[in-house]
Amino acid sequence: MDITATNITLRRGGKILCEGLDLHASAGELTAVIGASGSGKTTLLNCLALLERVNEGQLRIGGRDMTTVPESARRRFWRDSAAFIFQDYGLIDAETVAYNVMMSTPPLFRRRALTNPAVNEALSSVRLEGRGGEKVATLSGGEKQRVGLARAMYKNAAIIFADEPTASLDHENRDLVIELLRQAAARGATIVLATHDDAAITAADHRLHLGTHPATV
Ligand SMILES: Nc1ncnc2c1ncn2[C@@H]1O[C@H](COP(=O)(O)OP(=O)(O)OP(=O)(O)O)[C@@H](O)[C@H]1O
Ligand SMILES: [Mg+2]
Repeated sequence: MDITATNITLRRGGKILCEGLDLHASAGELTAVIGASGSGKTTLLNCLALLERVNEGQLRIGGRDMTTVPESARRRFWRDSAAFIFQDYGLIDAETVAYNVMMSTPPLFRRRALTNPAVNEALSSVRLEGRGGEKVATLSGGEKQRVGLARAMYKNAAIIFADEPTASLDHENRDLVIELLRQAAARGATIVLATHDDAAITAADHRLHLGTHPATV
């Protein structure tokens, strides 16, 4: 499922974050959005994920114009196609790790999260095997970051948005996260990641720099 953004302008808080930006993120590839703190990486990812609106320009996802879609289409996109690894983790602190991994499924199913083999597999993939029963509030920042990744892996989404997914991690876990994102791309997912991390930048197929006009892929 390709994402094509054409001639995008983003304005926030009286600032122009980007103007006339073009981006193409292809299925099977890892596209990195790079830029200084405050340059608009999170805002851009939010727009590509239909969480925020662009001010100008066009957004196509999977060949469909998604620039201004009704709430129903947005919800369907999230239910069927997208996963987001949030910069601030986006987890429910008071719930268990396993419950959070299963967040994309209806609440009734989540009660059995702890014994779900697919949840355990996703947790093993991020080196959190056996940790499903712990409350998220008790985890370290890096562990929370990996729960966010496990949730995306569990969902097996066609598009994964990852907002600085290696920011809180040591080198070993950083390499693991990059490897998992590469594996997701290898099975055909479209990966868009915002990052400052040299290893993640190197691992990307394409790089888009924010804060320099005109931005290029
Ligand atoms: N809703 C909003 N209202 C006002 N200002 C906003 C809004 N959303 C974003 N901004 C501003 O736009 C700029 C870009 O924010 P954004 O979070 O996209 O940056 P970033 O590149 O992700 O930074 P970081 O690397 O620190 O995460 C910031 O200066 C931020 O304050
Ligand atoms: Mg950000």
